[in-house]
Amino acid sequence: MSQTPKERQRWSSRLGIIMAVAGSAIGLGNFLRFPAKVAANGGGAFMIPYLVSLLLLGIPLMWIEWTLGRYGGGFGHGTAPGIFHNIWRKNRFIKYFGVIGIFGPLVIFIYYTYIESWTLAYSFFALLGKYHNLMDQSSMKSFLSGFQGLEQNQFFNGLGWAYFFFLITFSINGLVIYHGIKGGIERCCQWAMPALFLCAIILFARVLTLGAPNPTHPEWNVNGGLGFVWNPDFTALKSAKVWLEAAGQIFFTLSVGIGVILTYASYLRKNDDVVLSGTTAAAANEFAEVILGGSIILPAAFIFFGPTETQVIAQSGTFNLGFVTMPLVINQMPLSPLMGFCWFFLLFLAGITSSISLAQPAVAFLEDEFNLTRRKAALIFTGVAFILCQPAIFFLKNGVVDELDFWGGTFCLVLFATIEVILFSWVFGMDKAWAEVHHGADMKIPEIYKFIIKYVTPLFLLTILGAWFYQDWIKIIWMENVVPQNKVYILATRFGLLLVFIILAIMVKLAWKRRYKDERAQS
Ligand code: ALA
Repeated sequence: MSQTPKERQRWSSRLGIIMAVAGSAIGLGNFLRFPAKVAANGGGAFMIPYLVSLLLLGIPLMWIEWTLGRYGGGFGHGTAPGIFHNIWRKNRFIKYFGVIGIFGPLVIFIYYTYIESWTLAYSFFALLGKYHNLMDQSSMKSFLSGFQGLEQNQFFNGLGWAYFFFLITFSINGLVIYHGIKGGIERCCQWAMPALFLCAIILFARVLTLGAPNPTHPEWNVNGGLGFVWNPDFTALKSAKVWLEAAGQIFFTLSVGIGVILTYASYLRKNDDVVLSGTTAAAANEFAEVILGGSIILPAAFIFFGPTETQVIAQSGTFNLGFVTMPLVINQMPLSPLMGFCWFFLLFLAGITSSISLAQPAVAFLEDEFNLTRRKAALIFTGVAFILCQPAIFFLKNGVVDELDFWGGTFCLVLFATIEVILFSWVFGMDKAWAEVHHGADMKIPEIYKFIIKYVTPLFLLTILGAWFYQDWIKIIWMENVVPQNKVYILATRFGLLLVFIILAIMVKLAWKRRYKDERAQS
């Protein structure tokens, strides 16, 4: 099934691809999800499984995906079905496992873009002072619920504003994707990433110079706030859940196990380095997550609300910290409209550089396997994705987004990563794989990683999958944690997802049939 590769799009520079991969990795996960996970899972103790997962899962998978992507690009394939097929040609079914690498990012894209649109809306609300006079958790929460269309209240009487900002956000995503790798994604990341770091550093500096604004609690200060985040509660290490959550965070934050890095790396040239570039992108993400993400939202909440309330808020949901607590904290600072804008626009930039990467596997699949032009592929993708986004918007209150996040943003990641690492080290073969990783490399990976990638990473992943099956499978299948009135929505979402998966699998079948026909005609 190898064919003469057609002229692929290319990144214009090494900095361009590093920025794009770092942009994909640095997202809402760094600034919203990470602090919530740290606070909810034993503070500093969470960092132990987190760092172990980074070294044993995150970094190896980063190298694997960069390498497999560049390898696949050499055959004209930018997505997992083609890449997997080229690794294991004798197996007729392996290409269908690759469908997960298009399905997963598509599913994440359809809810991620909607959440990203809230951050754009709130950036404007901050500048216009729309929530400026709200001073307590419950009114800020109703502001959010009104905006999301979960209730009608004095702030909003429907989904109008949310839908308006969704349309803007979706159109910006569509426009970037339409302009392709160099003219769209690379250009977007080249200005968005520095702007993102600027906003993050302003907020970081502001939080670290906050002092102790509450005279009755002078201990609610920056030191206390950082201690709240970093002081370890070692009993948390005994919990399997903490390890699973740490591993899940590593996948989500680095964008590994999704399929997007495969696609981005497929636009590299054969001799381009992948080791140093992959490591640099991962390091940039970790700086943004651990140093910046860990020092903004939680210390700020601690300084204004103290440890008990902050813990309760952190455990009550990712969105509450970002969309309820943080605006309340900012409302009490000087220059609050600007600071509020800085916070939400930071989230928006982090979001958009990730969402465009989530779209690219599906676009690349249409281009590579159906020979469509980039523009046609982008238009088809935006049309289909627009329709798929609607349930996430209109049935948010029925748990549809959580369901999409579970399948697309959690389960598929671990499953896909497991398949990738086994294919890479056992089917491709570790010696060949090691040579492929180091082709054109500017840096050598320590030998110990040969052992880690071959044995430790797959075992770690299989253990996570096994533990998950053992603990949760039945509960999830029977929807034990779903309230009765939402069951029908969750079931409909599952059928919808299955349908999308089947359609993608049929498309793979058709694409392969067409290729064989073309090849027969040529020979
Ligand atoms: N890696 C992206 C994030 O952290 C998806 O949000």
